[in-house]
Amino acid sequence: MPHLLNLIDQPPETIRALLDRAAELKAERRRGGRSTPLTGKVVGLVFEKPSLRTRMSFEAGVAHLGGTSLFFPGNEIGLGWRETLADFARTTSRFLDAIVLRVYRQETVDAIAQHGSVPVINGLSDRSHPCQALADLLTIRENFGAIEGKTVVFVGDGNNVAMSLAVGCARLGAKFVLACPTGYTFDDAFLKNFQSKVSEELPVTLHDPVAAVKSADVVYTDVWTSMGQEAEREERLQKFAPFQLNSKLMAEAPKSCKVLHCLPAHRGEEITDEVVDGPQSVVFDQAENRLHVQKAVLEWLLAK
Ligand code: CP
Ligand code: NVA
Repeated sequence: MPHLLNLIDQPPETIRALLDRAAELKAERRRGGRSTPLTGKVVGLVFEKPSLRTRMSFEAGVAHLGGTSLFFPGNEIGLGWRETLADFARTTSRFLDAIVLRVYRQETVDAIAQHGSVPVINGLSDRSHPCQALADLLTIRENFGAIEGKTVVFVGDGNNVAMSLAVGCARLGAKFVLACPTGYTFDDAFLKNFQSKVSEELPVTLHDPVAAVKSADVVYTDVWTSMGQEAEREERLQKFAPFQLNSKLMAEAPKSCKVLHCLPAHRGEEITDEVVDGPQSVVFDQAENRLHVQKAVLEWLLAK
């Protein structure tokens, strides 16, 4: 049973095929065309954390493809505390054709996939955000014509979004650089997994944002405090301050580079208004691409 749990499980051919199909679905939508391969299918969305883009783009995407989506706040249905994850997975598999999960722990996604009998899609965990990385890769490809050989500089925390993008870049031949404060690098568990499943060559980590952006094709940032880390917010605000994506830092990057952010943006923290609204920013195209890549994922996992 195929799932999308973590991009690290997917070979380059699958990622490329998903991007190709997403581009076709995007063009089809622009033309006003519509195919409905999910007719009769029901997709459950179970979210433990807030979401705008993931929830809305999945619900819209399922509707475009002719299916039905049902949204459940994780706490209301007792995910993780009212019964075992195995029993949750076995039960929900009897009702749904696929399940999209947004959870605090990657282990929750993995356990539900292991014990259930329908495809599981990870809509963000503490360790990964594969749907986001697919949208990021599509956005990079649209802007540069290719992903291979490009340099993606992620200025910020070595978090879920950064980990998935680092994997996606390596799978498709782009260089990934993480520019972060000491103590916020990728952890050993991720690097070990990366080395065994993706590449001997690890993503580059720098602690000087100016040096990092000099050769960037893409400069990417995300919030400094991810959902679930709220207790660390004050400390993070201080540590990450020198890593703010502002016009001064952007002046050190090539003029041709593009700015990406998975959103939501904390304007005035990790990114300033002039950068997120500036001419190099493609963040809303990137947000739109969530819809197209997820439709490709749904088709791949569900369409006959
Ligand atoms: N980028 C992203 O996943 O946005 P949401 O948290 O709003 O879903
Ligand atoms: N790293 C952020 C991404 C939000 C889409 C978080 O996990 O909160």
